[in-house]
Amino acid sequence: MIRDPKDLKRYEPSERANHWAVGISFILLALSGLALFHPAFFPLTQLFGGPVWNRILHPYVGVFMALAFLVMVLRFWRLNVITKADKAWLSKVGSMIDGDDHNMPEQGKYNGGQKVLFWALVVCMLLMIVSGLVMWRSWFNLDVTLVRIAVVVHSAAGALMIGLIMVHVYAAIWVRGTLRAMWYGTVTRAWAKQHHRGWYRQVTRK
Ligand code: HEM
Repeated sequence: MIRDPKDLKRYEPSERANHWAVGISFILLALSGLALFHPAFFPLTQLFGGPVWNRILHPYVGVFMALAFLVMVLRFWRLNVITKADKAWLSKVGSMIDGDDHNMPEQGKYNGGQKVLFWALVVCMLLMIVSGLVMWRSWFNLDVTLVRIAVVVHSAAGALMIGLIMVHVYAAIWVRGTLRAMWYGTVTRAWAKQHHRGWYRQVTRK
C-alpha cells in the first residue's frame, strides 16, 4: 500500500488499539458463544481448549470486551450524535445502495448509517452485559426465572449483534479505502472528500 504524506489522519494509534481489542474479543465471544448456544456449533469449543475452558473463558472475555467497549464509547459518543443532516442522509440511503452516492448530503466524521449502528451496538452491549452477569452463576447465584429470562435476552441480543457487525465489516470492505483507516490510521483526501466532506473541510481548514 502506497501512503502519501498528504493523507489525512483519521485515528490515533490508541484508538485503533482500542477498536481492535473490541473487534478481536468480539470474534472470540461470537465463536465461543455460538458453541454454547447450539450443539451444531459444539466443535467450536476445540478452539478454546475444549468445552470446559470454552465455558470458563467466555464470560471473562465478555468482561474484557465490555470494558474495552466502554472506553470506545466514551471516546466516540460525541461524534455519533445524530443531526438533521444525518436524517437527510438516511432518507437517501436507498439511492446510495443502488450505486449513486454523488448527491448524498454532506457528512461529518461519521455518516448517519454509522451513527445508527453505533447506538444499536451500545443498546446490544448493555443487554449483553446485564444478561451475561445475571447468567454467570459461578459468581452470582440469582433466581432461576431471572436466569432463564437472561438466557433469552443474551441469545437474542447476541444474534442481533453478530448481524450488526456483519453489516459493519461489509460496509468497511465495500467502501474502498475505509479499512486502512483502522489499519494505518490514515485515509486519502479523495476518500474523505467523497464520503465525509464535512470532516474533510474541517481537518483541511487548519
Ligand atoms: C472484527 C472486524 C471489524 C472490522 C474489520 C472493523 C472495521 C472498522 C473500520 C474500517 C472502521 C473505520 C470506519 C471509519 O472511520 O469511517 C471502524 C470503526 C468503528 N468500529 Fe469497527 N470493525 C470491526 C469490529 C468492530 C466491533 C466488534 C465493534 C463494536 C462492537 C466495532 C465498532 C466500531 C466503532 C464504534 C467505530 C467508529 C465508528 C463510529 O463511531 O460510528 N467494530 N471499524
